[in-house]
Amino acid sequence: MILPVVAYGDPVLKREAEEIDKDYPELKKLIADMFETMYEASGVGLAAPQIGKSIRLFIVDASPFAEVEEGEDPDPMAEGLENFKKVFINPIIEEEKGEEWGFNEGCLSIPKLREEVFRKEKVVLSYYDENWKLKEEEFDGYAARIIQHEYDHVEGILFTDHLSTLKKRLINKKLQNISKGEVEVDYKMKFPARKKQR
Ligand code: NI
Repeated sequence: MILPVVAYGDPVLKREAEEIDKDYPELKKLIADMFETMYEASGVGLAAPQIGKSIRLFIVDASPFAEVEEGEDPDPMAEGLENFKKVFINPIIEEEKGEEWGFNEGCLSIPKLREEVFRKEKVVLSYYDENWKLKEEEFDGYAARIIQHEYDHVEGILFTDHLSTLKKRLINKKLQNISKGEVEVDYKMKFPARKKQR
């Protein structure tokens, strides 16, 4: 089932999400719905707050980064991402390391806006997978980048929070328009400040 993606301005996106336990109702269904929602919107990551649930859960499918166009060389940052599809439950960032690098990030909750965000190149994460197996893994390249972005969502942080004061001022009008639903988007969304529903 495709769920509406919550747009910028909804308080759920600014809330620190809660851990869940094995008894969380219909978790398998929720995860399946999140994947369906993410694929429909052509996303590579989706966090539960983005579908209105303030719980520490996010999903990632980084395989689009590993697709190589004809005549192009494979991107070294995408190495090993051909089948990178994962579920992260109750994640904790244990460590971030390496040089900071800039990447033009986007977000399904903030359509049509991309800005360069600087983050460290590696992240060590402990989490439970969809079978409640506890894992600790190190990620780098685009995998690390997506995980850091999605992890921010369960902390109530958006990529726009990382921008300079000047940049924030420059994009403020666009963000207000997004929260009002004044943006062209080809997937299902829920806009917090829309006056009348279409
Ligand atoms: Ni996002």
